[in-house]
Amino acid sequence: MSALQSDAFVFFGATGDLAFKQVFPALNSLVNRDGLAIPIIGMGRAGWNIEKLRARARESLEHAGKYCAGDFEKLSAQMRYADGDYSDPETFRNLRKALGSAARPIHYLAIPPSMFGRVVQGLADSGCARDARVIVEKPFGRDLATAQALDETLHGVFPEGSIFRIDHYLGKEAVQNLLYFRFANTFLEPIWNRNYVKDVQITMAESFGVQGRGAFYEETGAIRDVVQNHLLQVISLLAMDPPGGHESDARQAEKLRLFRAMRPLDPREVVRGQFRGYRDEKGVKADSQVETFAALKLHIDTWRWADVPFYVRTGKCLPITATQVVVTLKCPPLPLFDGSERLPSNYFRLRLSPEVVIGAGALVKRSGEEMRGEPVELIVRHQTQSDKSPYERLLGDAVRGDTSLFTQDDCVEAAWRVVDPVLHDPLPVVPYDQGSWGPAEADKIIEGDDTWHNPVAERSAPC
Ligand code: BG6
Repeated sequence: MSALQSDAFVFFGATGDLAFKQVFPALNSLVNRDGLAIPIIGMGRAGWNIEKLRARARESLEHAGKYCAGDFEKLSAQMRYADGDYSDPETFRNLRKALGSAARPIHYLAIPPSMFGRVVQGLADSGCARDARVIVEKPFGRDLATAQALDETLHGVFPEGSIFRIDHYLGKEAVQNLLYFRFANTFLEPIWNRNYVKDVQITMAESFGVQGRGAFYEETGAIRDVVQNHLLQVISLLAMDPPGGHESDARQAEKLRLFRAMRPLDPREVVRGQFRGYRDEKGVKADSQVETFAALKLHIDTWRWADVPFYVRTGKCLPITATQVVVTLKCPPLPLFDGSERLPSNYFRLRLSPEVVIGAGALVKRSGEEMRGEPVELIVRHQTQSDKSPYERLLGDAVRGDTSLFTQDDCVEAAWRVVDPVLHDPLPVVPYDQGSWGPAEADKIIEGDDTWHNPVAERSAPC
């Protein structure tokens, strides 16, 4: 049975950074490309009015290079604004009025998690939550205990099927392709296990800093900001077993099994770093111990992955902006050719952003009399990102009631269980230079003779 479409879109945090960078451009596309024709109500606490909100929306579209007068007029006509303190019942009575005859609104909480409880209660008391859906932003809580408390609050008002926990990584074309590439092909499955895979590395590098979000970052840090959610989600798609059917429930069930098999992190296998200069950012404490870099080793206790390390690394102010997975295979059982040179093992390289690339690393014979080899990379797929942003995709799905690309309560809690041991009383952060690959301590996490595989700028697509 297909779900009914929501008949009004309310977004809390309309005056904020996320709305500016992601939400207005996504709504603009939904209205003008997908024909979304429902009232869009921005909620804020900044004393704005509808004209101010429209001006902000316009600025956001100009900033994103998506402004077009005709389209903007259409979006503007659907926009409303309601202002007020989220602790004041009057704010929610005003929202109820602004909703008019809408009977199935969707409320998007693009606000800090500390405010979720208050807003959810306000929605419930004012009748705005009746037959409604709710979208909540990441990070969902600060740790396992707060995530469980948030789930309890939400479940007091909304059934699980009406809660959409958003992780924009799941709306990325390249991330969805991980699942497709693995399970639409026959050749991967026989080798996608501990018998053939030596290790898996995931690097999410960003060449920029906290971009004015110092206060937000002080509350989160890299592990809460991107490891607990984006990167563990990527690992779940890389490592889960094939779902028993094409239904979304079957996928969610396999993902959950995988999350539950992830071993909680061992603080001895985690390095936290902080770029030099972070403490000078606005909103950051002079003695901040918040990490802007994390490197860690993750273990998955299943028959498929026992003893295969999953190395994860992320950081701000690194040499490049790129997210990449490298799955390295074991060497052939016997070296038949000249062993004097050390050539890389076979690998799969899955570049998730900014480009979408799948490459397979192989060895071929160099021309000449000797049986000597050289590494080559076969590019299986090379394309730019789709023009539909992850937010456009996910907000559109939520409005239609499609939960398949959203995270369920048990998965989010299982992911917090993995990172929880390094959130409380963590070791001090190690400083690193901007433009470097983070503190040298991170190298010690890698076992044996392997090293981190640093993403490099992508060559242009072959003709
Ligand atoms: C967000 C984080 O969730 O993801 C940011 O809060 C990070 O710190 C961003 O920069 C990265 O997303 P993307 O889509 O640009 O790779």
